[in-house]
Amino acid sequence: MVAAVKEQAPARPGLSNKARELMEEINTDAAKHNIWVRTQANAPAQRPWFTDTAGEIGQLATGRVAANQMKTLPHHWRWKEYSQYLNRISEVARKADVSPIEFADRQSILLLNPGLNGRLQVTSTIRCAISIYNPGDIAPVHIHSPNASRTILSQKGGYTNVEGERCEATRGDLILTPNGTWHDHGNDDSEPVIWIDMLDWPLMEFLDCAWVDHDMPAGSGQGNARVQSTVHQNGYSERLYGRGGMMPAFVSHQRGNGRHPCPLIHFRGDEVRETLHGLRGEEGDPYEGININFVNPVTGEPVFRTLDYGAQLLRPGEETKFKRETASTFYVVIDGEGATEIAGKRFEWQPNDIFVVPNFVWRRHINTGKNDAVIYSVSDAALLRNIGHYRAQGRNNGSGVVELAP
Ligand SMILES: [Fe+2]
Repeated sequence: MVAAVKEQAPARPGLSNKARELMEEINTDAAKHNIWVRTQANAPAQRPWFTDTAGEIGQLATGRVAANQMKTLPHHWRWKEYSQYLNRISEVARKADVSPIEFADRQSILLLNPGLNGRLQVTSTIRCAISIYNPGDIAPVHIHSPNASRTILSQKGGYTNVEGERCEATRGDLILTPNGTWHDHGNDDSEPVIWIDMLDWPLMEFLDCAWVDHDMPAGSGQGNARVQSTVHQNGYSERLYGRGGMMPAFVSHQRGNGRHPCPLIHFRGDEVRETLHGLRGEEGDPYEGININFVNPVTGEPVFRTLDYGAQLLRPGEETKFKRETASTFYVVIDGEGATEIAGKRFEWQPNDIFVVPNFVWRRHINTGKNDAVIYSVSDAALLRNIGHYRAQGRNNGSGVVELAP
């Protein structure tokens, strides 16, 4: 018994068993008033993050803890596994003889992190849905507090309207819907389209400030419309903001409700690829390869205050060094094949595969293919930086740990 106590809290001298029993009695009494009495014997146990915890992940603190102790686990969702469900729901919807209300809008699957006990989230802050839109499908205009984005997997087809701007979607595009912007989606092409929706929804739920509204005010001139009328043609925000170092002075940069929101809402897959390939001759980052961040052109900050979006290119044979961050990161493979080692586990990936790296576990990427690999990432590093909790470390094979940030 004493040994067990010592194991629980090795750094603390601990109280005698008698003292512990007495404290538990007090705690039983205090529970009537929704109070918990903390002593040295039953203090919440938290692991020290910045000691070298090797590959350990998902470790739960023992005893009572201050917050829910479910932990994000590294996980990999293979295209060949998840795409079959998209095809199946798309087919059911196409052939549905039920009222169109059930199937008219859109179909999607949500990814569940196996460490989070069925919650609709892939990390503690990020929700991911993968949507398939049949020809003619429409997701009616709506607005919500979570920031959201879509990363397009299909070659073409489909659109998103954001605040009256029509964005035609093609593979590798990133389309943003910042907090509080009216948006609708649809597919007026002849083939189904698939994209990945990423949202900071779990964070908004945690803060008790997740809300959605489907009732577009009539004052906007298009109240209750299912689809916004096009006010700005495809490419509008790119014309305004798509060139570095030049910003339009005659428009308001406000979009939706956020503080300094990102008014460039459409990043084109072709341009992302072109940018990365244009930089592939550079040395790059030893922990990331050739990497770029998607930024708000007005402020130079991450596109959302909560989420960072990035893309990186790994050259054939390239192996990055190990890195870990206080942030959690979600990856989508756009081109190529390779592997990512996360907390000592190796995940082999191919195009359209998705994987998640939990907070503060060692990971490295390896391009095992013959061609360049391109992967996109979404992480809550932006949030952690904003609240002063972003830290990152690197590790060289065989040598020590180095501080990379702050
Ligand atoms: Fe939405």
